[in-house]
Order: sequence, then structure tokens, then C-alpha cells
Amino acid sequence: MKIINTLCYTPLLLSMMVGVPAFVYAESAPAYKGAAAEVVDGKGNMHVPKEYRTVYQMLGTWAVASDPEPGNKEMHVVYASPKTISAFRRTGHYPDGTVLVKEVYKSANNKMTTGLVGSPGNLVGWFVMVKDDLHRFPDNKLWGDGWGWAWFDAKDPKNTTSTNYVTDCQACHVPAKNSDWVYSSGYPVLKNK
Ligand code: HEC
Repeated sequence: MKIINTLCYTPLLLSMMVGVPAFVYAESAPAYKGAAAEVVDGKGNMHVPKEYRTVYQMLGTWAVASDPEPGNKEMHVVYASPKTISAFRRTGHYPDGTVLVKEVYKSANNKMTTGLVGSPGNLVGWFVMVKDDLHRFPDNKLWGDGWGWAWFDAKDPKNTTSTNYVTDCQACHVPAKNSDWVYSSGYPVLKNK
């Protein structure tokens, strides 16, 4: 035990001896693995995952009504990284590293045999959220409250135009604060029954 203790403190002792601040040895939060590792770089910059339409799980869709015209203004399609559904059903939470992607489309409204029907038209862009239980990027303004938050215009899935999640995202997500800032109640697939 004594040997182990000595080993643990060796960096601290060394730092005191040579005058290097001890925080240099402080462990940084572990890097992401899996889906999040493909989306987040070492500084917390995010981009839209490449193969999410085939590899991710679809959580559900939203239709934003156009008012006062009949039909929809926008259609939203939401995906989550692999295994999110089973994990959420088991624990009621999104595990660390969960990636959520919300596609935003202009709605194409057409008279079909079922009535006036909206379907995804032109892609406007993506909202991306990455779950972060470890507070990995305290200095990055797109990270906080347990998530990384970013918007991407359709023409540039690699570079976000968001600058601060508090002003760009959070205010609109306050109604979902008690469900970890996510509108999970809109996704029947997350329910056990
Ligand atoms: C105008 C209000 C508003 C703003 C601004 C906003 N959101 Fe949302 N967001 C919502 C609403 C409401 C939903 C669910 C209903 C919908 O999609 O219309 C949602 C859904 C989402 C979803 C799907 C998961 C979920 O919560 O159901 C993601 C991902 C998301 N938003 C990310 C972001 C990010 C990242 C930002 C900032 C870059 C942002 N949002 C800004 C209102 C907003």
C-alpha cells in the first residue's frame, strides 16, 4: 500500500521539487469513444456525423404548422446514436456520449389521396447535441448543462455557426429542462409501454 501511495504522489513530489505546478498532472476528462468520438474533436468542436441516416436510430419527427395557411412550415426528423433507445428505456437517461441529430426540413405540402400531406422537402440544416456527464470542455461556450450544442447550415455540416449555447439554444429548451433539456416526451420509441 505504501509503495502504491508513493507512486501516486511521485508526480506531485516531482512537481514540488522542480517547481512545475501540480495541476499539469491533473487528469483531463477521458476522451469520447464510439459515436461521439466521430463528432467531437479534442477541443469540443462538433460536426454532423456522416452516416447517421443508416447507422443511428430514428427517435421521431415533428411537424411545425404553418399559420395561418393550412399545412406544415417545417418538418424535423430526430436521430440518436446507436443503442440510445435501449439505454434510455433501461435508465431513463441519455448515456454519456449520446449524439442527437435533428434534421430541419422545409415542408413539402401536397394533396395526396390521404389529404393535405407534409413531407420533408429541402434540408435547411442540423441541430446536434452530444451528452457530456464529465464537463469535458469548461472553456468552450458550446458546452454546458450536460451537453454540447451546435447548429449547422445544410451547406456546411463541418462548421457550426453557433457561438454560445446559452443564447443560441438553451432558452428555447427551458420547457424540457426537467427531462435533461431534451423533448423526450415526443418520442414514443423511448417509452417502455
Ligand atoms: C426556437 C426555439 C429553439 C431554439 C432556438 C433551439 N431549439 Fe432545439 N428544439 C426546440 C423544440 C421546441 C424542439 C422539439 C420540437 C421541434 O423540433 O419542433 C427541439 C428539439 C431539438 C433536438 C431534438 C431533441 C429534442 O430535444 O427533442 C435537438 C437535438 C435540438 N433541439 C438541438 C438544439 C440546439 C443544439 C440548439 C442551438 C444551436 C437548439 N436546439 C435551439 C426548440 C428550439
